[in-house]
Amino acid sequence: MHTSARRYYTNLAYLTFWIITTLTPNSDLWWQRGIVYQVYPRSFMDSDGDGVGDLAGVRSRLDYLQELGVDALWLSPIYPSPMKDFGYDVADYTGVDPLFGTLADLDRLLEAAHARGLRVILDFVPNHTSDQHPWFLESRASRANPKRDWYIWRDAPNNWLSNFGGPAWTFDARTGQYYYHAFLPEQPDLNWRNPEVVEAMLGVLRFWLERGVDGFRVDVLWHLIKDEHFADNPANPDWREGMDPYHALIPVHSCDRPEVHDVVRRMRKLLDGYPERVLIGEIYLPLERLVQYYGVDPHGDLRGAHLPFNFQLLSAPWDAAHLAKLIAEYERLLPQGAWPNWVLGNHDRPRIASRVGPAQARVAAMLLLTLRGTPTLYYGDELGMRNVDIPPGEVQDPFERRVPGRGHGRDPVRTPMQWSAAPNAGFTSGKPWLRLSPDHRTTNVEVQDHDPRSMLALHKRLIALRRAEPALQTGAFESISTSSDVLAYLRGKTFLVALNLGSRPRRLPLPPNGTVVLSTQLDRTNERAGNILELRPDEGLIVRL
Ligand code: NOJ
Ligand code: MG
Repeated sequence: MHTSARRYYTNLAYLTFWIITTLTPNSDLWWQRGIVYQVYPRSFMDSDGDGVGDLAGVRSRLDYLQELGVDALWLSPIYPSPMKDFGYDVADYTGVDPLFGTLADLDRLLEAAHARGLRVILDFVPNHTSDQHPWFLESRASRANPKRDWYIWRDAPNNWLSNFGGPAWTFDARTGQYYYHAFLPEQPDLNWRNPEVVEAMLGVLRFWLERGVDGFRVDVLWHLIKDEHFADNPANPDWREGMDPYHALIPVHSCDRPEVHDVVRRMRKLLDGYPERVLIGEIYLPLERLVQYYGVDPHGDLRGAHLPFNFQLLSAPWDAAHLAKLIAEYERLLPQGAWPNWVLGNHDRPRIASRVGPAQARVAAMLLLTLRGTPTLYYGDELGMRNVDIPPGEVQDPFERRVPGRGHGRDPVRTPMQWSAAPNAGFTSGKPWLRLSPDHRTTNVEVQDHDPRSMLALHKRLIALRRAEPALQTGAFESISTSSDVLAYLRGKTFLVALNLGSRPRRLPLPPNGTVVLSTQLDRTNERAGNILELRPDEGLIVRL
């Protein structure tokens, strides 16, 4: 070849390589390939017999998480706290509550997790502190206090409501003003319009990043900035007695303000200074608003949260048509290069096994672990743990206490992890802080480890398959027409996933030469599929094409 032609082709190849590597989103990061597992520390494993789970307890169960095959654990708050909202009322952002252990215990947990290739994500609670945080004690001391403006003080309240019921403003007689709290009165909101607050809180992130944590789940990220004029929220015409205060309506002036994206960008920029850290945002908003939190800038670069939590599955009606629609909608709305994610449960929402029933919970697990995007698994869901009825005298959750008997309580989904048939399910040698599920003698890790068809076995198989198959981690998602109870899709042209969401047998035409690699019932492997796929009631199948 003529030299100039060779140079031309070399340059072209180089240019093509450059274009591909810079424009193709890097879909190889651990938080894109991996699976996040949420640990509610109070309820995971108690090492010292006080009935409350702790960090040493979590460390003692890392082998379990490694065997399960997850990549990261997210710890709900472990900071010093009066525990009015079980740690979501932080009194010191850079410490560990003695109930959970010490900073040294956290370091040991980080080290032990990292040694196993597991990442650790902390819960960052920036919207509010505890009313016992030294900042708030100062702020409320006098109107002239330098930290007065670190919180939100007003002479008169507006109509904003607390997410836990009742007004969001509490009068403080000492200085004759009201302070704002989107949650409990013991959780005053910080004023993120004050640059000192921003600096102090970024300092908190830096503190943990330097210690080696791999990322943050940011509590109520969409709440950080409120309307600067404190305009009243519009009344909700659909509200009825007993509903959440903001049921079916976004309180447009008290959250999701445009300036919040500047704050998210600041956090992201800080994380970008460290290798491979992840920023996950807790955001309950409709999809069009949610995807704004990826923070697309005018150049099309993503400067916001890596993973604005996608909570669609938490409340979706459990039928094929609805699920297909919301998956399509989400995939359509994702900005260029944005990485998706999916959640089936968390410490605030009903357990999936209770919501859809035990048979469909297996189908849900297959859905979660075969969709395109990072899955977050809530502790105990891998066993099929269910909501547990808590008698009124044992209620712990402040939400339930403020709005009693209306099903707002979150205790039912926070009961201790069920490890074995030992007393207290092997969770504690003391009295558990919250009663165990009555099924703990039969539904637990030990029993399910010995049952090759258990829910735990299903999770291990699904996770192992996902880990082994790049197509399931990062392969394209393509929906296949969905009809009568069957939700079916392709992953990277390699796998077909077919989920029967109903209780009748269903059939699905199939391209030739498919092999069933996994059934939710764990009894069909390496079965030639033929031209028609037979789905039993409540069965999900993964077929290799
Ligand atoms: C969301 C958390 O998930 C929830 O548990 C908490 O009560 C509120 N934020 C307030 O921090
Ligand atoms: Mg303990």
